[in-house]
Amino acid sequence: MTSSTTGTKRATVRINVPLPPHDIDAFLADARQIIESGWLAGGEHVAALERELEPWTGNRPVIAVTTATNGLIAAMTTLGEPGAEAIVPSYTFLATWQTVLWSRMVPVVADVDERGLLDPSAVAAAITDRTRVIVPVHLAGMPASTDKLRDLARQNGAALVVDAAHALGSRHADRPVGADGDAEVFSISSTKPLGAGEGGFVTARDDELEQALRRFAFYGGRPGLGDTYGPGLNLRVPELTAALARRNLERFEAQLERRSEIHRRYATGMEGLPLRLSGPLAGQRSAHKDQLVWLDDPADRSPLVEQLTDAAVETRLYHSIAIPDLTAFEGRVSSTDRGRDLAKRTLAIPMHGRLTDDEVDHVVDTMHDYFQGGR
Ligand SMILES: Cc1ncc(COP(=O)(O)O)c(C=O)c1O
Repeated sequence: MTSSTTGTKRATVRINVPLPPHDIDAFLADARQIIESGWLAGGEHVAALERELEPWTGNRPVIAVTTATNGLIAAMTTLGEPGAEAIVPSYTFLATWQTVLWSRMVPVVADVDERGLLDPSAVAAAITDRTRVIVPVHLAGMPASTDKLRDLARQNGAALVVDAAHALGSRHADRPVGADGDAEVFSISSTKPLGAGEGGFVTARDDELEQALRRFAFYGGRPGLGDTYGPGLNLRVPELTAALARRNLERFEAQLERRSEIHRRYATGMEGLPLRLSGPLAGQRSAHKDQLVWLDDPADRSPLVEQLTDAAVETRLYHSIAIPDLTAFEGRVSSTDRGRDLAKRTLAIPMHGRLTDDEVDHVVDTMHDYFQGGR
């Protein structure tokens, strides 16, 4: 029975809330030490965070940056070329595309598969002699086919820059995500599973690329030297952010496990309903940054959102406009069937480490209420 039928007012089931560190006092002690030291950015906590993230992402060099958006700009500018083509999925968050524009490349759309992940055969069809970068996305934490795409990129003299903003903690069947691309770019902003406010990092295929990315992140130069070697920004990360991310890492495995449990509870509870859920393939792990729902009938979306809202359940229309249909890209990229089709069916329901089983069941019950009666 839902709270709407009992008349009690239920607290809102939020779409996404960062989990606090399990030992907040330890973080507060870190914060005091940072403030007293007077070293507020790009110091020992940032360096330690980079080292601690390496085993999570395939044991490559890790470069901390202010946001994943900036990390993508750094990677694409370093590995791409102004005026060259970058192949990007038809269905993803806006940042993936924006960063191609900021890197002064021409975005070329390639379609996604039925789970919203860049389709290698669509990429193969989109490659031209002007392609310099291919940009798959581990959407909602689901590992994309970055092994196949890496081979395709190599055969065609292109670089693979992976948008892994959603995927810290995700695993392919036999390895963590993070080491297939020439660079893979992760986010630790508040809506991501590690949730440290704002922040991100890039994994680099080798030391040379690491150095190039570090230069980009330091005004195109190197600390202590007056020179600059090419385009760059200031992507220096605050120590407080790094300290919070490090404390969050201490309970990250448990947090990923909880997200998987929530996904499984949703999947079992919604069996038989006319919809599909985002999630990993057998043997993989998803960080479940989001729980996406694709409705069989797109006409259900508005009334279902209304019913969920009435039942105090937050939803989001993430990726609900296919990239070719965004105002900024009108007439600039070709249309795609799958991306457009998924976009009109998409809905995101609550997914985060603070969700209780009762809240998950309430979301499931409300969905059943809708499909069984309220439709
Ligand atoms: C797929 C994707 N790529 C990149 C980003 C950018 O991440 P950030 O907010 O850290 O800049 C986001 C942000 O949510 C995202 O969803």
